[in-house]
Amino acid sequence: MSQAELQLEVIRSRLSLHGVACEVDLLDSVDSTNRWLVKRARETRGPHICIAREQTAGRGRRGRDWQSGSDALTFSLLRHFNLAPLRLSGLSLVAGSAIAGVLSAHGARGIGLKWPNDLLWQGRKLAGILIEIIGARESDCSTITGIGINYASAPQVDQPVAALSDAFAGTLPDRSLLLGDLLAELLQAFDRFEREGFAPFLADWAQHDLLAGREINIQAGNEWLAGRAIGVSDEGALRVEVDGREELFSSGEVSVRLAP
Ligand code: BTN
Repeated sequence: MSQAELQLEVIRSRLSLHGVACEVDLLDSVDSTNRWLVKRARETRGPHICIAREQTAGRGRRGRDWQSGSDALTFSLLRHFNLAPLRLSGLSLVAGSAIAGVLSAHGARGIGLKWPNDLLWQGRKLAGILIEIIGARESDCSTITGIGINYASAPQVDQPVAALSDAFAGTLPDRSLLLGDLLAELLQAFDRFEREGFAPFLADWAQHDLLAGREINIQAGNEWLAGRAIGVSDEGALRVEVDGREELFSSGEVSVRLAP
């Protein structure tokens, strides 16, 4: 079996090594792992993981498509939270920090997080996170966190992209071992987030925060604002100094670019 082939048994044994119990499906091909789990969410609250060797119609943020290279890591996690949907604003930052931490622990260099949920390598997009909230009620909801990571190669798309092969500069970790570690870390981080909120993850986020201290432009609706990013709040909102005052921005409301 080639190193590039994902092996379900390796992923499962990695999860149990970390003490994480979770249902896992590995599909040869699917339109979208997020869409697949939306259907499962009618029968289960999860946690349930769906991994695809090939994804033919991946979903991206803001209604965009997500294109993956033939060897990308594409997977989603269905998880119920006993939290009101409004309290989930830090969830994508938790996912980003968890992924950046595991990649760095495996030896990747130069991984950065761009608020709220992009992983970049030297300014080029390495991975994306799409969180969908389904079945929201007042004090609980189900979520699907979909993650796409470029592995040995990056797809040809209309923005600068990178792959893990850039960040690892040579030897890539085994895909199944890496994926098992990523999934275990994500599930453990989500458990902690449900109990303690985003505050315990602030330091992890800060380690990889690409915006902190940088001049940025923020788009809110049709308006553009200029300011200096100064980190994130303990709820996961972006803290920006605008005209000498601190303002907070929530993900979903705004998009952010580094000032040229
Ligand atoms: C983004 O636009 O940056 C988010 C992209 C998220 C892509 C992943 S790939 C696995 C999962 N299934 C999907 O259909 N989308 C997410």
